[in-house]
Amino acid sequence: MTNYKTVRKAVFPVAGLGTRFLPATKSIPKEMLPIVDKPLIQYAVEEALEAGIDTLIFVTSRKKHAISDHFDSAFELETKLAEAGKTELLERITEIVPDEVSRVHVTQTEALGLGHAILCAESAVGDEPFAILLADDMVRNDGPGALSQMMHSYRQTGASIIGVEQIPREWTSSYGIVGVEENEEGHKAIHTMVEKPAPEDAPSRLGVVGRYILDPAVFSYLRKTPRGAGGEIQLTDGISAMLQSHSVLAFPFEGERYDCGSRHGFIKATIDYALEHEAIREEMLDHMHTLLRKSGKV
Ligand code: G1P
Repeated sequence: MTNYKTVRKAVFPVAGLGTRFLPATKSIPKEMLPIVDKPLIQYAVEEALEAGIDTLIFVTSRKKHAISDHFDSAFELETKLAEAGKTELLERITEIVPDEVSRVHVTQTEALGLGHAILCAESAVGDEPFAILLADDMVRNDGPGALSQMMHSYRQTGASIIGVEQIPREWTSSYGIVGVEENEEGHKAIHTMVEKPAPEDAPSRLGVVGRYILDPAVFSYLRKTPRGAGGEIQLTDGISAMLQSHSVLAFPFEGERYDCGSRHGFIKATIDYALEHEAIREEMLDHMHTLLRKSGKV
């Protein structure tokens, strides 16, 4: 097998305004909103670590302290928990990111879009392939995480890879949409990529999920990318331009995806994770049963 460069770095754009969750996101990034007891960003970081990432690059705005504080040690809290003998809680806050994993924070001073956020990470990434995880997309899995699955495919092909899933046609205007053609190796090679097209203009129903492994060539295309959908510099447009020189594959990963950037996706994730959580599962089921009976649904 050819030895492609190892993907060691992951970029987490966390500078978005999170307007759909105002006022909750007035002073904290939406990636700090919790699903049960962990913030969205922690689920994404855990998925990256499981996939072998050793450098976490956060692209933050002025609200960055919440994210860096979350992954830093909290001396006072740790001392209090240790003194109180609360070892299980202590482990939960001290073992989030292992010491050998580096954390880098870069600032996006203007909210010019996802493509611009990724461009801000260019010097931290350098000239090597890298992953991007959008923490508001959660992927629940019994087996390997979505990024691990994509890494496996990357090791075989060396091509850039984008996570995708089939979506209903009426949702195309909420996502990046790819047009694909099966190549000789049986992979879905992307030939078209459009950001948030109207259903009648969408090249397919394959929607981009926030998981990418990209060749660093994307930076040179992003530098030339004009503002696109929503007046923002779109990552989709940068990748679309890169298609002229690099092959990019669409990867329909296994697992359940929750779009936690939307309120209904966020609540669905909360319910599903709560029902998997040993400590609260039974109580939640009883509560839901009562609700459903009251509503006449059962
Ligand atoms: C971003 C991307 C879009 C992708 C989506 C996945 O959009 O621009 O291509 O489909 O994430 O969640 P956003 O959710 O930031 O509007």
